[in-house]
Amino acid sequence: MELKKNLNIMLKKIFIKTFGCQMNEYDSNRIFDTVKKIGFEKTDKYEDANCYLLNTCHIRDKAKEKVYHEIGRVKKIFREKKKPIVIVAGCVAQAENQEMLKREPYIDIVIGPQSYHKINETILNHSKNKKKEEETEFDTISKFNYLSKIKNKDSKVSSFLTIQEGCDKFCHFCVVPYTRGPEYSRPFDQIINEAKELIQSGAKEIILLGQNVNAYSYKDKNKKFRLSDLLLELESLSELERIRYTTSHPKDMTDDLINVYKKSTKLMPLVHLPVQSGSNKILKQMNRKHTIEEYLIIYEKLKKINPNIEFSSDFIIGYPEENNDDFKYTMKLIEKVGFINSYSFIFSPRPGTVAADLELVDKKKSKERLEIIQKKLFENQINKNKSLEGKTLNVLVENKMKDGIKLFGRTEFMTSVIFDGNTDCIGKVMPIEITNSNQNSLFGILNENYKKKVA
Ligand code: SAM
Ligand code: SF4
Ligand code: F3S
Repeated sequence: MELKKNLNIMLKKIFIKTFGCQMNEYDSNRIFDTVKKIGFEKTDKYEDANCYLLNTCHIRDKAKEKVYHEIGRVKKIFREKKKPIVIVAGCVAQAENQEMLKREPYIDIVIGPQSYHKINETILNHSKNKKKEEETEFDTISKFNYLSKIKNKDSKVSSFLTIQEGCDKFCHFCVVPYTRGPEYSRPFDQIINEAKELIQSGAKEIILLGQNVNAYSYKDKNKKFRLSDLLLELESLSELERIRYTTSHPKDMTDDLINVYKKSTKLMPLVHLPVQSGSNKILKQMNRKHTIEEYLIIYEKLKKINPNIEFSSDFIIGYPEENNDDFKYTMKLIEKVGFINSYSFIFSPRPGTVAADLELVDKKKSKERLEIIQKKLFENQINKNKSLEGKTLNVLVENKMKDGIKLFGRTEFMTSVIFDGNTDCIGKVMPIEITNSNQNSLFGILNENYKKKVA
């Protein structure tokens, strides 16, 4: 009641801008589900907002500076208007906490990813006391317990569902263990209930999320649940068409998980399995805790189950001490696995990590290597897409394109497909004959005569 009474903070419109990974997208949706309880509506227009929330990412580059730059833009927009409540959330908020409030007085609230259950209280306190607020404790259990009581109102055909947060692996280049805290797996039933809510709202595909999604491990009385158990339980939900999970670590790619590919018809045949480098020397220096040989064993096992399975990956180029030979090993691995849809970035030293102060590879060399690897990865993508021309693929239709005419969907391998069709197709798996392609998308027509098939 007290919360509701304090609500009358003007128009109650929130503008949320999200940077970073899918987990941030999921979080932004859940933040919105939460602030709705204190009367906020969402707005797509900066100018209309009286609360501006920036959900930040700290993974690479000048993340912190980008945030201050963005706040600078907001300041300008609101120069002639009433100042909105400015909230910085996400991984930069967690890493910088008090510092942000000191450096940029325009920021009112700094809130870390494990404190979103406290966001309403924090906004209301700020509105009442006009004091700066900072919430950056790691309180994951309370967060998910709280969020599980608020309906997930996401109504997308393809919806995210966070099942695990944080990381205990401490790769030497990565900030995630510091910004998201230790590994935590949500209770099995909580996840299944949320999946059912999403399906009720129209989800046909669920993408399970976690910084280390395949490290999922939850013990309830005598039974231990792993990602494989969750996948099989989701498989039994009749209205759900497709299941995906991301991001996995090779170390946690256990046989029970691999074997789900034998049984499941809903688990999609694209495995996103970041390897970072093709050199064992670099993997060791990165503290990745696996070798290329171990990675390839996983590849072979999955290919043996289903030769149509494809892989995508993340690569870090120019990690300290990466020499030409190390880079060649990475190229060799790409040749062997034929990754599709991969991400590659030059190593970016992150404050507070083990690799932060290591001697950098010459910038020009790193850039050259990035160009070479991206050329190869893009070639793989183009060739793969070209090879699909003339074929009919099962496409889960997600929505209308901005032009209001064409429809957008995805293949089993996550490739975007654009085609002419009726809005009745949205939410259905439709057979689309591919007529044309480019690096990122396939274009096609509805093939009414085709019988649905799973890869
Ligand atoms: N947990 C996942 C794993 O183990 O691969 C990755 C999570 S991380 C959010 C996503 C990707 O960001 C990583 O796979 C890595 O390629 C990239 N990344 C992380 N730290 C980086 C850094 N300091 N410089 C460049 N890329 C980085
Ligand atoms: Fe970062 Fe490594 Fe953890 Fe992935 S496994 S989130 S790269 S520390
Ligand atoms: Fe970025 Fe945090 Fe995700 S650093 S990649 S938003 S976990």
